[in-house]
Amino acid sequence: MAHPQRTAVVTGSAGFIGYHLSDRLLKSGWQVIGIDAMTDYYDVTLKQDRQAMLLDQPGFRVVEDKVETPGTLDTLFAGSRPDAVIHLAAQAGVRYSIEAPESYVNANLIGTFRLLEAARAHPPAHMLLASTSSVYGANTQMPYAETDKADTQMSFYAATKKANEAMAHSYAHLYNLPTTMFRFFTVYGPWGRPDMAPIKFARAILNGDPIDVYNHGRMKRDFTYIDDLVEGIIHLVEAVPVRPTGPVAEGDSLSPVAPYRVVNIGNSDPVPLMDFIEAIEAATGRKAAKNMMDMQPGDVVATWADTGLLTRLTGYRPGTPVAEGVARFVHWYRGYHGV
Ligand SMILES: NC(=O)c1ccc[n+]([C@@H]2O[C@H](COP(=O)([O-])OP(=O)(O)OC[C@H]3O[C@@H](n4cnc5c(N)ncnc54)[C@H](O)[C@@H]3O)[C@@H](O)[C@H]2O)c1
Repeated sequence: MAHPQRTAVVTGSAGFIGYHLSDRLLKSGWQVIGIDAMTDYYDVTLKQDRQAMLLDQPGFRVVEDKVETPGTLDTLFAGSRPDAVIHLAAQAGVRYSIEAPESYVNANLIGTFRLLEAARAHPPAHMLLASTSSVYGANTQMPYAETDKADTQMSFYAATKKANEAMAHSYAHLYNLPTTMFRFFTVYGPWGRPDMAPIKFARAILNGDPIDVYNHGRMKRDFTYIDDLVEGIIHLVEAVPVRPTGPVAEGDSLSPVAPYRVVNIGNSDPVPLMDFIEAIEAATGRKAAKNMMDMQPGDVVATWADTGLLTRLTGYRPGTPVAEGVARFVHWYRGYHGV
């Protein structure tokens, strides 16, 4: 049965994931209200271009402001009474959190606090917030499962996201706010983030510049194609957590006391960094010159998502192979940059 038109608030709507998610929601008949501060952490033109494609579609409007501005989210929630809130706005990036930690306090801690307060005053049917695979930190047990202890964050970025999980849990418990926390694993694809390795590699290879390969290439990432990630989110919007009345099933991260759950969204297929670089070489038809570098502070050697919970909750299993995803991503990059 078709739903009556539902309204979603998407924070960070001009961002990489926010743009793709908003586009997918609009195409599924949702009304979407975006909010994005268009921060200059990376090229603002890319954000404006993404936002322009959303503004072309009926059903989309946007507020350009910071999520931490007092009153902004409260007014937005009061005026729109969203059915779902998907909170993606954040200061992202592991490495930048060494340089500019305070921006993570403002966007991630205060921003998320304002969002929770707005939800407390005007409760949506479901809140979904972005966390990260980086919260697994120094864990060595692979693949990473949501029910694993995750107390050894290696970067301040990861620490603010872990704090967001605890903050959201307390609000879910105190104010009965159904909340899902996503842990995303290295997302790549068209319209991707220029501060992340896939675009840095593609740009350098196409310019004939050397690429920096950290930890001498001895790293693995559970690279997740953007369409798969968005599909996972869309499915999880319908999987509203309910405060349990009895024991929680084995392997379910559902809180024993709150309508709150953590869910990994990854590809569950860790790819050696050198294989990912080879996929970009294949897609560009060029060989990369490589600067072999030491490990970067704050970084982790490997990530690997257990996606069993996502599949049990939604029936969905991400599966775009890296060769295919990289080919689509390089095709976009060349077209967008005319190279
Ligand atoms: N891309 C990934 O691989 C990945 C992995 C794990 C987690 N995440 C998380 O997913 C979310 C989205 O990531 P993304 O890759 O789309 O990043 P992005 O930087 O492209 O998008 C974030 C958007 O939020 C906006 N923003 C930043 N600070 C803001 C503020 N204070 N108020 C309002 N808007 C603000 C930015 O302008 C940007 O458009 C983030 O929470 C990020 O931490 C991403």
